[in-house]
Amino acid sequence: MRAFPGRAFWGAALCCLTALAAWAGEAPAAWRKDAPVYQSRGGLGYLQFCAACHRLDGTGAPGVFSPLAGNPRALDEAPGFAIRRVLFGGFGARGNHVFRMPSFASLRDEEIAEILSFVRASWGGEGGPVTAAQVAAERQDAASPPPSATPRRFADFLASPQADLLLRGLREIYDTKRQLPGNVGAALNCASCHVNAGTSALAAPYWGLAGAFPIYYPRAGRVITLAQRVNDCFQRSLNGTPLAEESPEMAAIVAFISALPAPAATGEASGRGIRRIDRSLKPDPARGEVVFQRSCAVCHGANGDGLRNAAGERLFPPLWGEGSFNLGSGMARAYTAAGYVLGNMPVAHSLRFPQAQGGLTEQDALDVAAFFSHRPRPDFAGRAHDWPNGGRPPDARDEQVSAQVVFLAPLGLAAAAGADSPRP
Ligand code: HEC
Ligand code: HEC
Ligand code: HEC
Repeated sequence: MRAFPGRAFWGAALCCLTALAAWAGEAPAAWRKDAPVYQSRGGLGYLQFCAACHRLDGTGAPGVFSPLAGNPRALDEAPGFAIRRVLFGGFGARGNHVFRMPSFASLRDEEIAEILSFVRASWGGEGGPVTAAQVAAERQDAASPPPSATPRRFADFLASPQADLLLRGLREIYDTKRQLPGNVGAALNCASCHVNAGTSALAAPYWGLAGAFPIYYPRAGRVITLAQRVNDCFQRSLNGTPLAEESPEMAAIVAFISALPAPAATGEASGRGIRRIDRSLKPDPARGEVVFQRSCAVCHGANGDGLRNAAGERLFPPLWGEGSFNLGSGMARAYTAAGYVLGNMPVAHSLRFPQAQGGLTEQDALDVAAFFSHRPRPDFAGRAHDWPNGGRPPDARDEQVSAQVVFLAPLGLAAAAGADSPRP
């Protein structure tokens, strides 16, 4: 007996869903037709919660994460195994490493059903769609956290009258390098740092920002708008060029960010920004190199260049070199990078939602951040004019500040210092 409806029903259901999406807003823009993941609630749930590890095309990451495409354990007719993996998490061993998948019990039964149905409809196998009742049956006797409505789900954008604008913004954030090649110099996307496309706490999430800007910004020494803050990340974090503030591309990004509501909590509990590091801790980059090789190199490459698949496409982002963020970015500052790493890296290490992230001590995070942030990377000419009204933080990248010398000398990186000095 089949516990779920057959293929024909599934096809009809999908078709109705698409029709419903079109009816709820305007007809979907042409680009969405070539991008299946943006067409259904399940596809958008997959992008938001699964794609960082299993990749947008379901092919996984060699030596790190298993593929879901063609994988009988994801696509089998009986979906119990796949449902339990998503509800309760799991782990897999590769060489010397154990990689963990977090529990997604905070997603509702219907959401998990939609995501697994998308996986099964997209990547082969005999299984049909998964129903919410099947997920509920597996969840029943589990002592797992109850479903939660935070963070805001991209899947809900489909029903918005602004669906096309919001999804275009999402795509620019998630796939920045390919969508806006003229504005991105680095081999990075916004979502390379802003985890789950800006919906993960303490990974500088985008929620609530629309109400927080315009804001006085000490680095610029003036009040800046949200669009100007976005352009800061284009020029520094993405080592690129700003978008015209009135362009449709910028309008889509600002609309997307503005659609993520402010959290109820304030301060660090709101998840805004990144972890802050105790300034009395002092970095030891030589120790940081050991942490890097042990806990980071498997995904970011022993040479910091990221991990590529057989086709040469980067699966995980670089941490230094030509394809990395430049010296004017927050991530090039040891304490900022350490706060980011403490909250978000390594991925697949703990049981924490949404990426099984974290597990380093504060000292480890500071040491490894001091190591990778001070490897050679592109420069940003404008950094000399930062903090015009004072308040320049001690870890800001400035040749007059001794920090670089302190960090570079013990590592014997004098030769690399050339890449760190300002270009004429
Ligand atoms: C932080 C990384 C990470 C995220 C995010 C993640 N997974 Fe996984 N997933 C893993 C790991 C690790 C395994 C264990 C199997 C392996 O790769 O060795 C796994 C296994 C699975 C399996 C079983 C496949 C097998 O061969 O054992 C399924 C199905 C699956 N994941 C689905 C999902 C879905 C659906 C989502 C999103 C809701 C998701 N995963 C999010 C890391 C992740
Ligand atoms: C190399 C990593 C990196 C990349 C890539 C990146 N950012 Fe950022 N972004 C940061 C960091 C770090 C912060 C500052 C977090 C803090 O100090 O609280 C930040 C802050 C922001 C803020 C302000 C957040 C706040 O709480 O005030 C916005 C908005 C933003 N980024 C948008 C973007 C957009 C849009 C893109 C892509 C065009 C992008 N960023 C790319 C690292 C990055
Ligand atoms: C299992 C894979 C994995 C491991 C291990 C890992 N990362 Fe990452 N890292 C990622 C992924 C994937 C991203 C993209 C953002 C996201 O979705 O988490 C990322 C993003 C980053 C970023 C921001 C983007 C960039 O390239 O500048 C930094 C910085 C970073 N990682 C540092 C580290 C450090 C330091 C360690 C070791 C302590 C580490 N990572 C370990 C997978 C990993």
